[in-house]
Amino acid sequence: MENTVKTDAQAGLRRYCDDYLETNGHRPLAYVYSFGCQQNVSDGEKLKGQLSLIGYEFTDDNEQAQLIIFNTCAVRENAENTVYGAVGDLKHLKEKNKDVIIGVCGCMAQLEHVAEKIKASYRQVDLVFGTFAYDRLYEMLYTVINSKKRVFELSERVSEISEDFVQIRDSRIKAFVPIMYGCNNFCTYCIVPYVRGRERSRKPEAVISEVRKLISEGYKEITLLGQNVNSYSYGFPELLREIDKIEGDYWIRFMSSHPKDATHELIDTILESKHICKHLHLPVQAGSDRILKLMNRRYTAQDYLKIIDYARNKKSDFSFTTDLIVGFPGETQEEFEMTKTLIRRVGYDNIYSFVYSRRSGTPAAVMPDDTDDKTKGLRLRELLLEQRENTQRLFSRFLDKEITVLVESKGRQMQLAARNTEGIIVEFDGDDSLIGSFVTVRINKFANWALFGELI
Ligand code: SAM
Ligand code: SF4
Ligand code: F3S
Repeated sequence: MENTVKTDAQAGLRRYCDDYLETNGHRPLAYVYSFGCQQNVSDGEKLKGQLSLIGYEFTDDNEQAQLIIFNTCAVRENAENTVYGAVGDLKHLKEKNKDVIIGVCGCMAQLEHVAEKIKASYRQVDLVFGTFAYDRLYEMLYTVINSKKRVFELSERVSEISEDFVQIRDSRIKAFVPIMYGCNNFCTYCIVPYVRGRERSRKPEAVISEVRKLISEGYKEITLLGQNVNSYSYGFPELLREIDKIEGDYWIRFMSSHPKDATHELIDTILESKHICKHLHLPVQAGSDRILKLMNRRYTAQDYLKIIDYARNKKSDFSFTTDLIVGFPGETQEEFEMTKTLIRRVGYDNIYSFVYSRRSGTPAAVMPDDTDDKTKGLRLRELLLEQRENTQRLFSRFLDKEITVLVESKGRQMQLAARNTEGIIVEFDGDDSLIGSFVTVRINKFANWALFGELI
């Protein structure tokens, strides 16, 4: 029954797209925009894949689109506010053209209170569906088009992992490959486990064959994705070793790694591999053991430093990046200083730092918090200044060195922008034809956001 309905919906949507072509001389255009993390970007690429199968084409200009989908992020309040702003801006589009279909999906849409707010206050939105409903896209869209009804689909029925999908990828050079979905860790500040459900791992054969295909198509950088890749059910280091055997000229990255599960075997696997970047994104969140405990991170600062030291003893310039939260409920000035001490001790190539954002429904949301917003803002600035000094010191290690980089796009200050294996931006002058290839660059200066050099 399920299948027939889906097939009917799919056939109906195909007819709609064909009729549209006949009347308008072009296929209906979809604008799909993903906010948030790489996992969301990857989901957006699959949504586009599904839409392409029924006859949609794509546009980057929402004014031209017949279907607009915002694939949203709920991780912090300002991520949510950005979405409300963007959806609010579409009101005039709907007034001009009542046939344009507006959808909101993804992590925010999985939250009941968000769906309620959209239902009541954003009448221009026709379709709201959470992260568990992607496999029902055709039925939902068909209902909107056919019956002109608004559809709200928030069921928590988690679908089987489908390997039968087409993707329209945003890049021809870099690709995201999810190896698992969901999260079991329940860090007390974090909404992700509530909007993404429990961990589900893809089979190694499926991941490996996707990576092999991407490499044969010419992709140069593959990033394996999961909220905690180290709890991949079939063994993460084993998966890395299998992927590394694939012949070709490519880099492998992955994120994120939870420090509680980052093992010596993982570090050894990275160091022994041919294609894996010698860099680990290892979110520490805080430097104080009391705060780490309140966050339910299940490691201490010492445990964390042991992993760093193990890697650095084997390769002194092993690169680390991290995520940090300042102003977690009850964080004292002294505890904040511990975070600063830790980032100085590790010497990160980059940090992603955030002011704690209260997410209702999470345990931290009801923890007492007597630090005002201004103090939290100042702490964030202090961290950024601390890291700026670190960066200057760390970037100087590349001066006069020749390094391999993957050319990604046109540059901001020089003709081309690339990244090295540590993920640092490297700009240099060269021809556009180099975009998508590995080249060697000699570094001769740096700023706080990039290295600069000349092509060898
Ligand atoms: N699963 C990844 C991990 O544990 O490393 C993190 C995924 S989360 C999408 C990315 C980052 O957002 C987290 O590492 C954390 O620093 C930050 N984050 C999550 N919830 C937050 C909150 N309520 N307030 C501020 N930052 C938050
Ligand atoms: Fe959120 Fe923690 Fe899961 Fe990362 S590991 S997604 S921070 S709950
Ligand atoms: Fe990612 Fe945001 Fe969802 S960070 S998993 S899109 S809440």
